[in-house]
Amino acid sequence: MNNSKLHVGLLFGGRSGEHEVSIVSAKAIATALAQNPSYDVRPFYIQKDGTWRSPQDSSVVLESGMAPAASAESANFQLPVEVNAIDLWFPVLHGPNGEDGTVQGLLQLMQKPYVGNGVLASAVGMDKIMMKSVFAQAGLAQVKYVALSRASWQRQPEIWCEHIELELGYPCFVKPSNLGSSVGISKVRDRAQLINAIASAISYDARVIIEQGVNAREIECAVLGNDRPQASVIGEITFKSDFYDYETKYTPGMADLIIPAVLPPEVAQAVQDMAVRAFQAIAGAGLARVDFFYIESTATVLINEINTFPGFTATSMYPKLWEATGIGFPELCDRLIALAQE
Ligand SMILES: Nc1ncnc2c1ncn2[C@@H]1O[C@H](COP(=O)(O)OP(=O)(O)O)[C@@H](O)[C@H]1O
Ligand SMILES: [Mg+2]
Repeated sequence: MNNSKLHVGLLFGGRSGEHEVSIVSAKAIATALAQNPSYDVRPFYIQKDGTWRSPQDSSVVLESGMAPAASAESANFQLPVEVNAIDLWFPVLHGPNGEDGTVQGLLQLMQKPYVGNGVLASAVGMDKIMMKSVFAQAGLAQVKYVALSRASWQRQPEIWCEHIELELGYPCFVKPSNLGSSVGISKVRDRAQLINAIASAISYDARVIIEQGVNAREIECAVLGNDRPQASVIGEITFKSDFYDYETKYTPGMADLIIPAVLPPEVAQAVQDMAVRAFQAIAGAGLARVDFFYIESTATVLINEINTFPGFTATSMYPKLWEATGIGFPELCDRLIALAQE
């Protein structure tokens, strides 16, 4: 019995702004996997500096549910020897250096199956400019946008401002192309704000995207599967702040999840279809959460983004959507492992 156990490597923490959320997601997943006697789960904590910790050290972090105080030691990029015993990886990492194809590339090189999206889907899903080009190609409706590089901005800021004002108008949203968690994102209402926001976004990333601002409800759909992906019921996020910024996302009580979202059935159906098409457009595998804007006055659905490793805590939208669709948290984890083995 013991020999036939599947050694699952749970990767968490990581070098991104979502390090803390990752620990909470990993704890929830570890608890669920522990219920299945066919798995032997070995945690691997990646410190904020990128150092991988042994399963023994990692268990302590997982138990506490919190990042330990940063050590003064310099980063050590050697992988722990315990890595060699892993049969299948479960990367529970959000944001850059985890959800963007970098870790997926490493796991691919290790020649072991892993849960979730591959290198290409992860990279495309993380980069907003790339993601939007792929969505446009797939015929998915989205907000108007302008893509901008640091070099080109610095050469002709005046001309870019005029172009953005003509194409998009105000309010518009300025975002680093490659980040997540709303970090570096600003809503701007005039030229002075636009210039400041671009300067700020460009300090995070050499590529920036500016989008037309819409007044819309924010709805989300979960996707699960490989070749025949399924869409969940739809959820909605409501909040009182101006937009779903970092503080609103991570301060308990500042946002509410409504599951299922109250929508006309044809709108819910359209969202589910678009979610599956978006997943297929990026060559998705395993899972994704697809986020939309729903403009009620015109019954318009616009795709906002795809998240290739969405928040996975016990109270996160992704597992909650599946729970409401009939797949509980432990079963969801089992399915993801089975999909990785396919
Ligand atoms: N074009 C837009 N129109 C209206 N609100 C927007 C727009 N873009 C972003 N937002 C607001 O900003 C939030 C974060 O933007 P998003 O692109 O989802 O970034 P992240 O990848 O960091 O989650 C959205 O949930 C929404 O509240
Ligand atoms: Mg978002």
